[in-house]
Formats: sequence, structure tokens, C-alpha cells
Amino acid sequence: MKASAPGKIILFGEHAVVYNRPALAVPVTQVHVDVKVSDSLREGIFINAPGIDLHAGLNSLPADHPIASVILRLFQLFGISQFPPLDISITSTIPVASGLGSGAAVSVALIRALAVHVAYPLTNEQVNELVFEIEKLHHGTPSGIDNTVITYNKPVYFIKGQPIETFKVGKPFMIVIGDTGIPAPTKESVGDVRSLWLRDTVNFENLFNEISQIVLIARRSIESGEPELLGKLMDHNHALLQQLTVSSPELDKLVEAARNAGALGAKLSGGGRGGNMIALVEQAKAESVASALISAGARQTIITEIS
Ligand code: MEV
Repeated sequence: MKASAPGKIILFGEHAVVYNRPALAVPVTQVHVDVKVSDSLREGIFINAPGIDLHAGLNSLPADHPIASVILRLFQLFGISQFPPLDISITSTIPVASGLGSGAAVSVALIRALAVHVAYPLTNEQVNELVFEIEKLHHGTPSGIDNTVITYNKPVYFIKGQPIETFKVGKPFMIVIGDTGIPAPTKESVGDVRSLWLRDTVNFENLFNEISQIVLIARRSIESGEPELLGKLMDHNHALLQQLTVSSPELDKLVEAARNAGALGAKLSGGGRGGNMIALVEQAKAESVASALISAGARQTIITEIS
């Protein structure tokens, strides 16, 4: 059985979303995780994930290993104690620890492929809940936005703990994604923001409120088909993320390069410190902004239409 899950980008509101503010995120289908589960003739469950250099039996992995924990939790849910012999192959084009949701995408695709293989149907809600449990194990205090946008594979307006809300895109717009190539685990930037918030709560709450206003205006612009306005909002959101201390010289350099090459606006996307940034572009400028990002040091770029 096979299953896939897309990557994701956060358009607006990362970090503030951990503190119950809204955020906007969209799936990125150009990158994905693919999982194949097949019956095996050898004993036990064997996992082959060349992207992270993992070729191992489930029994040889610690129970809190990100992939082992997904399989063990799932079989617990299914009430299976004796695991069937299986070969699991996991391939991914989503760069790891880059803010594109690779961890959540592995969990979603793995759960879906295993559920189908053992003929135990799961609803999107069940998949989402399970992946959120796994995200909490490995990422400290996640908001749940990554697992939600990847499970539902739709643009989402997300507020922690509230029912999923999707949003309409009144007029398609183009985003160029630039990867710094620097892996940056979200857990660390989220943990650092928490320490700063504890020390300087009033200031950080004000920054989160400002981000929240940006998200609300951005949603209205997207829905009413006025995406041109998003550029300025991205620039403003990036400045606030800098104040949250989650940007980095490499991210700032790419953001600057995109703006200089004619992007309407740009910001980091996701946990920050490394990983990816995004730039809003007119279609005619997409290629030149992407090459400017490569010249400024981006490891790779993706041009994606949000529609
Ligand atoms: C990570 O993609 C987004 C953050 O806001 C963390 C989270 O929401 O869990 C940085």
C-alpha cells in the first residue's frame, strides 16, 4: 500500500500561533513524502528510509525514535500486539528541519499507508490527532498547524485547539520558496521564544498581537482576491519575527535578495533560524527572483502557485 503527504509553508503567523494567535498555512505539493508498505517474508518490521540513512528493523530502534513511535502508537490504536512482517519504504523530497513540515509529512504518510495495509480505516480527524501526539513527543510545544495543513492538504486558517477552518483564494498568487540549506529544528526556536516570552511577557504578547493583526488582514486580502497587498504584510511579519529573534543572517540575506530582485515582499517561513523563506512575486518575476535567491546562497528554490 502506498500513501503520500505534501510539504507545507506558513504564509503568516508562525510562532505567534503557539500562543493562541491565528496563522495561515498552505500545502506545497511539489515536495512530498511517499511511503510504501508491503508484506515481507522475513520476521518483523523493516524500515528503509534512505534520505535519513535509516535501514533497520523496528526492534532495533528506541521506542521514542520518530518513525518507531509512529508505528508503535498506531498498532496500539489498532490493538495489535503481534506485529505482522512488513517492509516499509519511506522516501522524501522535503528537506529535513527546514520549516516545510517534513516530520509531520512522514507521520501522515506512514499512518495512512499502514492503516490501509491492515484494513483499519482512519478519518482525517484521527490521523490529525495521532500526528499531533507524535509532534508533541518530538517538538516540545507545537501549535498543531503543521499536522493540520498536511493532513487535510488544504489552505488553513489555524487557531490552536479550534476546529479546522479552510480559506478561499480569491485570486491565485505566486510564491518563491528559498532554502537556506541550514537545518534548524523547530523545537529549538520555539523553546527559545518561550524563554524570552517568560522573561519579557508584555513585549512578546504585543509582538504576537501585531502578528495576529497581520494574519487577519492577510486572510481578507487573499479571500477578496487582492494578493498584491500581501507583500507589505510579509515584510512587516518578517520584521516582527526578527524581533522574536528567530531570523538569521542567512534568512535576512535571502529576504533582502528577493526584494531587490523585484519580489513584492518576503519573510522567513516556519520555525526560522535556518530553513526556508518565502517571497511573493508576480508571475513574470518568479524565475528572476528564484535565480537571485540562488546567487544569494539558497540551496534550492521552489516556485509554487497558491490557488
Ligand atoms: C512551525 O512550522 C511553526 C511554528 O509556529 C511552530 C508551531 O506552530 O508549532 C514555529
